[in-house]
Amino acid sequence: MQRRFQPFRFLLRSAATLAAAVLAAAAWAAPSAHADLAAASGSEVSGMVKLVAVPGGASLYVMVVGLKPGIHGFHVHEVGDCSAPDASSAKGHFNPAAKPHGSHAGDLPDLTADANGVAILKVDIAAMSLESGPAGVLNRAFVVHADPDDHVSQPAGNAGKRIACGVIKAG
Ligand code: CU
Ligand code: ZN
Repeated sequence: MQRRFQPFRFLLRSAATLAAAVLAAAAWAAPSAHADLAAASGSEVSGMVKLVAVPGGASLYVMVVGLKPGIHGFHVHEVGDCSAPDASSAKGHFNPAAKPHGSHAGDLPDLTADANGVAILKVDIAAMSLESGPAGVLNRAFVVHADPDDHVSQPAGNAGKRIACGVIKAG
């Protein structure tokens, strides 16, 4: 049986191929990742983080709401598991080079919440890799803390409870 040429289907398939190519090119140009932050330890905190690869590291765009006004510790933790009510399942700070706290790969600048409990931060993190595997942050977790990180106390800066957690996913 002879197959007829179907222009509509052909166009549709071409458009899909083109869209896939454009998406692939965009992804190649700037790999990105994201995390949705959800409440932990009985807080009402939520937020989102977008990560975009830049030469030599990554840019983070962070927005968190529902915070107590003031300063909050913020880190990449080792395990992409926020299932425990207190987010303890995310384990300790991401630390592939086995350094002390203050120099962990997962140590990030604190978040500062305004009077409305909103914290917005854009920061470039040198050497942050958006890959999976031992040196990358993909499939790990962001954690927001109740208190400031003093960036000195071991092993985690005495930043208090984990009040929000989100797994870092590609895209
Ligand atoms: Cu932390
Ligand atoms: Zn640390």
